[in-house]
Amino acid sequence: MASTSPVTTAVFPVAGLGTRFLPATKASPKEMLPVVDKPLIQYAVEEAYAAGIRHMVFVTGRSKRAIEDHFDTAYELESELEAAGKQALLDVVRAVQPADMDCTYVRQPRSLGLGHAVLCAEHIVGQQPFAVLLADDLMVGEPGGPPVMAQMTASFAQHGHSLLAVQEVPEDQVSRYGIVAGTPAEGRLIDVERIVEKPAPKDAPSRIGVAGRYILTPRIFQEIRQQPRGVGGEIQLTDAIARLMRKERVGAYQYAGKRYDCGSKAGFLEATVELALQHPEMGETFRAYLKTLAL
Ligand code: G1P
Repeated sequence: MASTSPVTTAVFPVAGLGTRFLPATKASPKEMLPVVDKPLIQYAVEEAYAAGIRHMVFVTGRSKRAIEDHFDTAYELESELEAAGKQALLDVVRAVQPADMDCTYVRQPRSLGLGHAVLCAEHIVGQQPFAVLLADDLMVGEPGGPPVMAQMTASFAQHGHSLLAVQEVPEDQVSRYGIVAGTPAEGRLIDVERIVEKPAPKDAPSRIGVAGRYILTPRIFQEIRQQPRGVGGEIQLTDAIARLMRKERVGAYQYAGKRYDCGSKAGFLEATVELALQHPEMGETFRAYLKTLAL
C-alpha cells in the first residue's frame, strides 16, 4: 500500500563507535547488538516504517558494513532456506527489507558529532522534512497504541513544525540529554523556548530530556552548517535546533510509550528482559525461568 506519511525519509546516524560496549563492539557495529532476536537498528527501522516512512538513510562509518548487509538480500542464506523448505525462517529474513523500502548509505568520514552526521545526509534528504532516529534509544509505544515515530508523524501532519520526542528524566541524569524548557501547548506538545545539550544539573532549565527521535524541517541543515563545535568538540544537533527555534516553531512531543537507553549496559539489559517477557515464542518460558531465580 502506498504510504501517505507527511514524512518520507528517515536518517539513522550509525557511525558512532560504541565504546560503552567494548569488547562486543570491537569489530561489530553497536547497532547490530540484538535485543532478544533483532538488532537495535532493525527496531528503529521498523518504527520508521510503521510511521509510513519508506526511504531509510544510514549515515555510516568504517566497520559498519554489517548494517548494509542486514538490509540487503542474503542470497546464500535465502536459497538454502528455500531449498530446505524453511518458509517461516525465510519470511523472517525477507521481512527485514520490505519491497517498498529503499535504503541509502552515506559515510560520515570523521566523528564530528550528531549534527555533523545529520548534515552528511543533506544531499540525499534535500528540501523536505525528515525524521532522525537514534538506534541506541529503543522506543516502544503503549500496548495496543501507535509506535513513537507514528505518534510524531501524526502530530507533524497536524502542525507542520519540527518536533523532538521528550520525556521527564531524573535530575541526576540531566547531563546525559538535550534538555528543553518551554510553554505547554496543544495535547502532548510543549513550545520549546530553550534547549541545552547535556547541562550540569544546576544549570538545567528543566528535567524534560530529548529522546532519540526527531522530525526536522530542512532549514536545520543551514543551521548546522553555521554551528560551531559545542560540548565535547562536536557539532551538536541540539545547538543547531536552538538556532532553528529562533526562526521557526519547534515542539517538544511528550510521547506515549517507553524508552530503553540501549547505549548503556543497564538500559540494554532492561530492554532484553522486558522484550523477552513479551516475546510470543519464549515469553512464558522466560517468565517461568526468572521466577526460579533466588534474587
Ligand atoms: C544524543 C543527543 C541528546 C539526546 C540523546 C538521546 O546524545 O545529543 O541531546 O538527549 O541523544 O538519547 P547521545 O546519547 O548520543 O550522547
